[in-house]
Amino acid sequence: MNEQPQSLGVLVLGAGKGVRMHSGKPKVLQPLMEEPVLYYPLSAAVSSGIGNIAVLAGYQGELVEDYIKKEWPGVEVIWQREQLGTGHAVKSAEEWWKRFDNLLVLSGDVPLIRHETILDMLARHRAVSPRCTLLSFVTDDPSGYGRIVRLADGGVRIVEESDATEEELFIQEINAGVYLFDTVSLSVVINKITSDNELGEYYLTDAIQLIDDTEGDICVVICDDKQELLGVNTPHDLAAAAEVLGKRIIDHHMRNGVKCMDPYSTWIGPRVECGPDVFLEPGVQIWGKSRVFGGARVGAWSTLRDVTLGANSIVLGPSVISDSDIGPCAEVGPFAFLRSNVRMEAGSRVGRFVEVKNSTIGENAKALHLSYIGDASIGSGTNIGAGTVTCNYDGVSKNRTSIGDDCFVGSDTMFVAPVSMGNKATTAAGSVVTKDIPDGALGIARERQTNVDGWNDRKSIVGGKPGKTGEV
Ligand code: UD1
Ligand code: CA
Repeated sequence: MNEQPQSLGVLVLGAGKGVRMHSGKPKVLQPLMEEPVLYYPLSAAVSSGIGNIAVLAGYQGELVEDYIKKEWPGVEVIWQREQLGTGHAVKSAEEWWKRFDNLLVLSGDVPLIRHETILDMLARHRAVSPRCTLLSFVTDDPSGYGRIVRLADGGVRIVEESDATEEELFIQEINAGVYLFDTVSLSVVINKITSDNELGEYYLTDAIQLIDDTEGDICVVICDDKQELLGVNTPHDLAAAAEVLGKRIIDHHMRNGVKCMDPYSTWIGPRVECGPDVFLEPGVQIWGKSRVFGGARVGAWSTLRDVTLGANSIVLGPSVISDSDIGPCAEVGPFAFLRSNVRMEAGSRVGRFVEVKNSTIGENAKALHLSYIGDASIGSGTNIGAGTVTCNYDGVSKNRTSIGDDCFVGSDTMFVAPVSMGNKATTAAGSVVTKDIPDGALGIARERQTNVDGWNDRKSIVGGKPGKTGEV
């Protein structure tokens, strides 16, 4: 008879406040490489593809719940209304996990864990069939962690730092906070955990000795990579985790062909996708759900956040771009600022000191110098002269400017929106455009120039500067 595969639940503990972080925000929502710390253990759990996942929320749990609902459909939220320790946390979810054969407990604040490590742990658990498998690692600096105490009879217990003896404090093998339990055994011991310890908390770590004493074997899997199991408790831990993660992500992209001039000053977020032959200059940051296509180049000290950068496009640095979609063979910068839903079509160019917001720039169109383009659509092949401004805000609401294809917008044109310009139309430099300009027309909206003949001679007669005399 075929054995039924064992069912598995994954519970991610995220209800604690994180006192050592000194923050008003729950620790698991602290940003790590611009994603909440919780993003990482959840990603590892999802990538493992091993079972149902739930997150335990408690301290400011509404924020945790909102995040999960928004970003992790399919992940359940379970509440621990009072945060009385990790043992109490797991007990709070008993109704949920007792339906599974096994329970994997991940700590929401152990973000660097890889899904390969989880799968390896699971394979060992299934091969050896103990009542509990836990991850440990050996470190020169065990401070802050629970120590793994190996007992003479081959058994194991965990002692928390605050309860450890002088001798136990020297133990360098520590508990990573990642456990696989047989749920029947866990159900038996979870109610036996007491708060009889230095901090008066219900420790999940006490379940280990209880299982060892009454239920059966404990299997300890020692993880070779100690960085992977770093617990994030303090701002320093957060920075240390970012350093490890940052290197790991850059390494991944370089293996896939990204050329990174200075990996040490380059930051790429965990959700970014890069094609081969992307070239990154020093100091580049790429965050959010950005996608950079093959052959694109991002110039020094540029930041891209939730940006699609098309194949063979160039961002000259420094430029700052967010929530925008840049087509292939386009050019941006240097010193450009694009934000809030900009769409640049193929071959278009936005240049020096140009800000673009919520606008589309047509194919091969260009705005190369000192302009503000907000709430506008610019047709293909159109040239926007230096100093052009779309005056989109009338003090009450935002209005749109529409500029057609193959237009020539003279320098220093002000478009007082809502206003439009047809195809192949032109504006005279310095115009303040308040009326629509039809196809093919020239819009001039400025004073005609007056030349005052002999001005310089008059200046010498009155013996002063023309401005002083006022005799024009
Ligand atoms: C815990 C372990 C320690 C281990 C370390 C590894 C215990 C008692 N100690 O210590 O042996 O070396 O992790 O990183 O488990 N949480 C809740 N509800 C609570 C309390 C905590 O959900 O009532 C969550 C936290 O949000 C956190 C995780 O559990 O994600 C661990 O809690 P934390 O207080 O950070 O435990 P440590 O002191 O780091
Ligand atoms: Ca911790």
